[in-house]
Amino acid sequence: ARPTDVLITTPPKAGTTWMQQILHQLRSGGDSTFTSIDTVVPWLEIQREGKTWQEIVKHFESLPEPRVFKTHCTAEQTPGIGIANIILTSRDPRDCCVSFYHHLMNMTDEARSKKQIPCPASFDEHVDQWLKFGAWYRNVQSWWPYFEHPKVLWLRYQDMKQDIEPCIDKITEFLKWDVTAKQKETVLEYISFDWMKAHDEKFSAQGGSSKTQTFKPGKFIRQGKVGKHKDLMSTEQEHRILEKAKIMLEPECLKFLELDQIC
Ligand code: A3P
Repeated sequence: ARPTDVLITTPPKAGTTWMQQILHQLRSGGDSTFTSIDTVVPWLEIQREGKTWQEIVKHFESLPEPRVFKTHCTAEQTPGIGIANIILTSRDPRDCCVSFYHHLMNMTDEARSKKQIPCPASFDEHVDQWLKFGAWYRNVQSWWPYFEHPKVLWLRYQDMKQDIEPCIDKITEFLKWDVTAKQKETVLEYISFDWMKAHDEKFSAQGGSSKTQTFKPGKFIRQGKVGKHKDLMSTEQEHRILEKAKIMLEPECLKFLELDQIC
């Protein structure tokens, strides 16, 4: 890791792609020319078809600074803590669980068979598997000890949704990146849900180099709302998700995530 690097580390479906776009836009002062977000903000740990890990690392070495990467690694798995700048986004686990269900359902059959990711037989089965796999819990739990680390900035999806501008100011201040008022205007346009939805194909490659289309067209940037899990999730399913959070996370962490009153 280099001191200028930025790592976005999130549990799946917590706004990773949004943060990739935010950082790329802030870094470039507004750029709509890239074909896939993965080419400008690569997913650090994903395998690349036909490439050895040495080739992948060599490519990462050649990227211009400041380099920005996405990862779903836990703190234990993340390289460069204390050197690189780390930005987290967290989101309500119930919304992440529902978003991940749509993620799986909206994959193309070709991608699903290639990656050997089966389609959940029902939403019920998906919730069971999501709880059993537990990526959301592992990720949040592992990063909580770094909450106040000077090289870590932790943002919440609900705050970004409510008002993105102060979040952007926090990011530029944290990274000491200069963005002019005019550039900020362009950045705000390109990071909006509507712009990203209209350019869904730039965000849905998930690893980039493969010829296989991973998602059905227009389905990756989906809905982008807070609390919409209620449309699909039963009270009993919510209860199971929140119970596990209560067991696995510190009370202070639950409070930060605004889950303390409902857990
Ligand atoms: P939904 O499925 O609830 O719509 P990730 O990038 O971590 O996979 O997260 C994907 C989620 O972020 C999806 O949530 C997606 O719609 C949402 N998202 C992507 N871009 C967004 C934006 N500009 N504003 C708000 N939400 C966004």
